[in-house]
Amino acid sequence: MAALPLDGVRVLLGVTGGIAAYKAADLVRRLRDAGAEVRVVMTEGATQFVTPLTFQALSGNPVRTTLWDSSAEAAMGHIELARWADEVLVAPASADALARFAVGRADDLLATLVLATAAPVTVVPAMNRQMWAHAATQANVALLRQRGVRVLGPASGGQACGEVGDGRMLEPADIIAAVAVGRGPKTLEGLRILVSAGPTFEDIDPVRYIGNRSSGRMGFAIAEAAAAHGADTSLVAGPVALPTPPGVSRRNVRSAREMHDAVLAAAPVHDIYIAAAAVGDFRPEVVSASKLKKSGEPIRLDLVQNPDILADVASLDAPPFLVGFAAETDELERYARGKLERKKLDMIAANQVGNDLGFECAENALLLIWADGSEQLERADKRVIAAALLDRVAARYRASSKARRA
Ligand code: CTP
Repeated sequence: MAALPLDGVRVLLGVTGGIAAYKAADLVRRLRDAGAEVRVVMTEGATQFVTPLTFQALSGNPVRTTLWDSSAEAAMGHIELARWADEVLVAPASADALARFAVGRADDLLATLVLATAAPVTVVPAMNRQMWAHAATQANVALLRQRGVRVLGPASGGQACGEVGDGRMLEPADIIAAVAVGRGPKTLEGLRILVSAGPTFEDIDPVRYIGNRSSGRMGFAIAEAAAAHGADTSLVAGPVALPTPPGVSRRNVRSAREMHDAVLAAAPVHDIYIAAAAVGDFRPEVVSASKLKKSGEPIRLDLVQNPDILADVASLDAPPFLVGFAAETDELERYARGKLERKKLDMIAANQVGNDLGFECAENALLLIWADGSEQLERADKRVIAAALLDRVAARYRASSKARRA
């Protein structure tokens, strides 16, 4: 029988105050179904939405709500609880919880545990879209990320408050899949994977450039999942403000030509190259050394074509297994299959852009296409999609003539 994804993993689940707290009940049940042992800590606010008894019944363990519970402290004190956990998961994580974790507060049990644990911490934000978009929340999330806290979601869609936008808690199944990726079997052990991610910037003058809307998140999620699955992972990143995923070796570049040089230098020693970058197709023919001044006249910018990185990697003597991306607004499958053939790729991951998908958002859906088949990966958090993509890439790589034979 296949091992459960979280077999024997001790998950400390923090539940904070928000309407999504009711979904945490289902999360507990599913975590246990996935093999985890679960202990729940609720904030004062969370108990206004769901009773501790619900979580006690579902987790099979006593629920803690306060630092000042003398009988609980005698049984399993807060430091022991922090040490007990293999994973700390906070779902839903309210705006207040994120702010408190970011500041490093220790005046309630959950915040104290987040400080006191050596286990990986994952937060799953859920809140009204305005609260999520607020600069204060975004700054808190950025700080937490920088410190290595994993942030899952939020997803976008209808909200309990009647508004529509980013702020929904990820579905329990997606949360479990993302946590499992971090702990899962090292299915890519021994493979060297190169990923390119983010946009490229083509300078016009010292202050202006031509760029694109790629956030880099899909490529970073792929690199993170590749390293988590045991691959020796290198990332060539265009200009993005994302932290380097754990265990990944990163090289920063700016222009398409810099990315070209970095990727071509690295490709020969990699087994798989996943080209998730949105490479600028054109660059200004001349980069002005000083800032262009307006004169009242129209200005003309001559653009020349950039090298095609994937096509050049494909023409190497022994190219790695090649996975390209195709972001399309129309006729997804037809254009993507055309690119697969034209660029001599082993697989292409096609995504529809627009309609809140693809660029600048946390979710994606991909249509994977290879010479004699295809598979749709349904819309999910980019981390979940990245893990599923890598599974398929590994399987197709092993079946291909490019696979290294031991
Ligand atoms: N790509 C690349 N080098 C370029 C342009 C694109 O390596 N100069 C890669 C991208 O990283 C992606 C794939 O090619 O994996 C497809 O990118 P896309 O821009 O969709 O394809 P193009 O060939 O540029 O096609 P078009 O712009 O005509 O849609």
